Amino acid sequence: MYNELSKLLSTGDKNTLAELIKHYCENASFEERQNLALHAEKIRNEVYGARVFFRGLIEVSNYCKNDCYYCGIRKGNKNAIRYRLDENQILSSCAMGHKMGFRTFVLQGGEDAYFTDERLCSIIYKIKNEFSDSAVTLSLGERSFDSYKKLFGAGADRYLLRHETANVKHYARLHPPQLNFENRKKCLYDLKEIGFQVGAGFMVNSPYQTYKTLADDFMFLHNLQPHMVGIGPFIAHKDTRFAGVENKSSDKTVVILSLVRIMLSKALIPATTALNSIDTKGREKGLRAGANVLMPNLTPTIYRDNYNLYDNKLSVGLESVQGIEILKKHIEELGLIADFSRGDHKDINFI
Ligand code: 5AD
Repeated sequence: MYNELSKLLSTGDKNTLAELIKHYCENASFEERQNLALHAEKIRNEVYGARVFFRGLIEVSNYCKNDCYYCGIRKGNKNAIRYRLDENQILSSCAMGHKMGFRTFVLQGGEDAYFTDERLCSIIYKIKNEFSDSAVTLSLGERSFDSYKKLFGAGADRYLLRHETANVKHYARLHPPQLNFENRKKCLYDLKEIGFQVGAGFMVNSPYQTYKTLADDFMFLHNLQPHMVGIGPFIAHKDTRFAGVENKSSDKTVVILSLVRIMLSKALIPATTALNSIDTKGREKGLRAGANVLMPNLTPTIYRDNYNLYDNKLSVGLESVQGIEILKKHIEELGLIADFSRGDHKDINFI
């Protein structure tokens, strides 16, 4: 079956690939799914050991110039309470995280014009100067090649930009006309060319998603070979057109996560906050199915509730650094090692 997956990917047989994904998501027996998860875990362990890499997530701004139809912080949502962190707040969040042991900081935010190249470069430079043993990951949406290049030049190591869906028509049903898959794809390839460790990814059960669009996602990931892949369930937000139309499934998310792990053995794959937000056992299920990253929230607590991508998003307890000691214990109880090192992708060598 696993050989079949790689054969389908290399021959580009999308219809059969869609059938295979559907089989595991809908028809496979409990035992078959369990074996899939075990196989994915085994592959992860062979590449990285039974380790979970920790990243400190700093949500720097929920201002966004885009109107992605599914997203709670889209520009058109008048109910969103907007905030942004300034340089000092970002640096002190890093300082707090560094003290706790984090060696990767993820600066994530909407596409906020305030964060010019100049401001971002200054922030990145200062983080790298103060915490020279740490990696900086950015997740700030689509920018130009030149902009990405400047950010890389200032010291940023990694960039997360989910492709959301690799099917052009599906992309157009989730995004306004100003956004298109071609540009998203260009951004990801630009980032790779510049030298970033790159993260792509998508939501599971996003509106209009089919097994065929999922097969497109798999083909796209197979071609891009990203270093990281973010996969989480779609969760409707009340202030979007998709309010109430969700079909939340942690089991399906976990099956897809395992298939992606099998396809990209060296990828860094988080057990996402979204997965844990729909299933109290989500984190555990993800980690037992091939995920190897957790991203506890380091954002100053007063702003956390405002970074509302979807309804009932978790940002406290074990999703936050305040719960870190308990979280570490949970990881150990699962037989995994909590790893606070930079946790770079296998193919990246740092001296
Ligand atoms: N449900 C789940 N994930 C979402 N995201 C945005 N809105 C939602 C939602 N309603 C994800 C997108 C984006 C990432 C930051 O959050 O995939 O890339």
